[in-house]
Amino acid sequence: MPLIAILPGDGIGPEVTAEARRVLDALDLGLSFEEAPVGGAAYFSAGHPLPPATLDLAKRADAILFGAVGDPRCDALERHLRPEQAILGLRKELGLFANLRPAKLFPGLEDASALRPEVAGAIDMVIVRELNGDVYFGEKGMRTTASGRREGYDIMSYDEDEVARIAKVGFETARVRKGKLCSVDKANVLETSQLWRDVVIEISAQYPDIALTHMYVDNAAMQLVRNPGQFDVIVTGNLFGDILSDQASMCAGSIGMLPSASLDGSGKGLFEPIHGSAPDIAGQGKANPCATILSAAMLLRYSLGMDAAADRVESAVTAALTGGARTADLGGTLSTAAMGDAVVKALG
Ligand code: NAD
Ligand code: IPM
Ligand code: MN
Repeated sequence: MPLIAILPGDGIGPEVTAEARRVLDALDLGLSFEEAPVGGAAYFSAGHPLPPATLDLAKRADAILFGAVGDPRCDALERHLRPEQAILGLRKELGLFANLRPAKLFPGLEDASALRPEVAGAIDMVIVRELNGDVYFGEKGMRTTASGRREGYDIMSYDEDEVARIAKVGFETARVRKGKLCSVDKANVLETSQLWRDVVIEISAQYPDIALTHMYVDNAAMQLVRNPGQFDVIVTGNLFGDILSDQASMCAGSIGMLPSASLDGSGKGLFEPIHGSAPDIAGQGKANPCATILSAAMLLRYSLGMDAAADRVESAVTAALTGGARTADLGGTLSTAAMGDAVVKALG
């Protein structure tokens, strides 16, 4: 019986994971679940954002369903104790280097997009974000310069193997979609990006069937709102992928709609919405649970090979939205639980 670790986390994390759990339960797939605290919740209950028991569960489980971490009460803690270190630690400890963030416009959400309906309607892309390297994991610190000023630093780096393995994920993802891969970098300024571009070009020799293009990240940000329909698969580094995926979410209607899969290449994965703990709406039943429900669908597909069940969940979300179910971020009035109800009902 596959074991799913549920790590709800902070803020709206518990609210949205509860709805995804209800959807999984309703499918009656014979899964077992174990829950553990993570992030600020774990700091307050166990003194650390990623306690050993939580990490142990994550390692034992076949897949992880993750809510969100982040708590304003923790912003002044030393960095290693902050909630965000839990998700960074899980990604690193479990070797989850490939983050797939699909962004597509669900039918009927044209009016929720920040873009004109005819521009928004064409959105159907996957952002493949590298998740174990870049400026996130380089040496960082605060120091005092010779002249007595405070200086913060974060080293950005990638080695060629790290670029090669995520490039392959990008090409493979494009191969099962429309065959178009856009590599996003800042090779006009950064050495990290020059290596990125060189290695992506080298790997492209193994994928003659894929149409590869390159784009600077500033242009990519502009093109995402000008003509998002031009993108099929984007492959990019950790920081650029973080920023561009939040932007893509709003083009597609709401940050409450975008799921993600973080994979280690063997099938094991962590599945989470791309959004955070949303302290501004936490505890009010306002959060859109669709991103987490769609993350559960990705869990079924990528970690458990249950494609038919994943299809059912995605169709149910589509049917609920088509039927008019909307949380506040989509311009509606439904609560988090009522949106979950609508999806469960649409499962049939
Ligand atoms: P956020 O994604 O939490 O929220 C940004 C805005 O989007 C807020 O106005 C919020 O209300 C809204 N929003 C987010 N998810 C929503 C949903 N499902 N339904 C409706 N509205 C939604 O980003 P933030 O405010 O910059 O960060 C808050 C905290 O979350 C910080 O501590 C941050 O570090 C953390 N964070 C964690 C993760 C993660 O756990 N993977 C991801 C992003 C941010
Ligand atoms: C995300 C978040 C995280 C990131 C933070 C909370 C560490 O923004 O999952 O997108 O930057 O990767
Ligand atoms: Mn982010």
